Amino acid sequence: MRSSSDPVETPIPAATPPVLVVTDAGRLPSDLTSLGGRTSVCIPPRSLSPSVAGSFATAIVDVDLGALEHRPAMLAKLSCLARLPNLYVVSAEAADRLTAQANRLGAQDVLVRPFSSDELASRLARIETQRARPASSDPGAEHLHQPRPPQAYEDNDGIAQASRVLARVFRQVQTGEAPRFAPFHDASHAFVGALAEAAQSAAGMREWLAAIQSHHSATFRHSLTVTANAVLFGLHLRLRQADLERLAMAGLLHDIGKAVVPLAILDKPARLDPDEFALVQRHPETGRDLIERSPDAVDPELVDAVVHHHEYLDGSGYPHGLKAEHLSDLVRIVTIADVFTALVEDRAYKAGLSPPAALAILDEMAGKGKLDAVLVQQFKAMIECSRA
Ligand SMILES: [Fe+2]
Ligand SMILES: [Fe+2]
Repeated sequence: MRSSSDPVETPIPAATPPVLVVTDAGRLPSDLTSLGGRTSVCIPPRSLSPSVAGSFATAIVDVDLGALEHRPAMLAKLSCLARLPNLYVVSAEAADRLTAQANRLGAQDVLVRPFSSDELASRLARIETQRARPASSDPGAEHLHQPRPPQAYEDNDGIAQASRVLARVFRQVQTGEAPRFAPFHDASHAFVGALAEAAQSAAGMREWLAAIQSHHSATFRHSLTVTANAVLFGLHLRLRQADLERLAMAGLLHDIGKAVVPLAILDKPARLDPDEFALVQRHPETGRDLIERSPDAVDPELVDAVVHHHEYLDGSGYPHGLKAEHLSDLVRIVTIADVFTALVEDRAYKAGLSPPAALAILDEMAGKGKLDAVLVQQFKAMIECSRA
């Protein structure tokens, strides 16, 4: 969901089909700001998914394509662009090798820097007026639709197991089956064990977080990252094993209500319309309803975390506007992990903040009485030392 702590989204006029710009530059490159009057949506490669790509007719790839054959995760991410009618690659160099890489992605044109905004606009217009090519007309792109190579997260037992139980519940909800939550116990146990080991070193932590980022679903990446941040916080607070596993389960379950929201809405790279937004905002209560529909009993403390992870101590949160005295430590920890994660992660409609910038916002929210100030100070210490 779009957390109330999320930065403001960039509105896109409905009448103008936006151009998707995929860049590893961290923000929209200045020479791509003028697209002949077209608006753009700028995302990093890791935010790409078939559902995001499928929302656009035109995309520009501004990514270092060097040695793409040795970067299967990047290749898999970019491969979903191959079916777009209009695909361009921009580069700082004109080289045969670059052209070969662009062809491999299924690009129709390569624009070599520097180029003027007029030249860019006319190249976009020229190709967009040509007949859209059939999806399979580029033999060089065919292999890109083979099954994806193993992703890093699938090689990490803790993350893979957590990801599987999440995916199973989403599938059960979407096919009308009763959702089952019993498997989350084993998944939480495995997640805590593997994360505790990774947290022995900063390098281990970096690898762990990178593995989560390789997941193709932004929704699952979010839940897995919230879970990792909540468990890391629990380790920092020296909580008992049973409490760490409860935190892991709360992290995995907290956004389970999003299972009823179509992925096209969850991963929509643009502003949600009011109906879509209302649907997403119902996810805490939907999560509780799903748990109640399950034949598996779930600890009431966890259900409380699912329903109330968007509440703030001053009563300004939702869905019930609860105040501090009604918010448990578990809820407070999950909320801090959720807000921090939402701030640092890239979304299709915004770039993530740096950890120090996100921590400054947590501080500000604690200062306004929204978040538990003592826990925020300890969370800051944990983030600073785990990423040192
Ligand atoms: Fe949420
Ligand atoms: Fe969340």
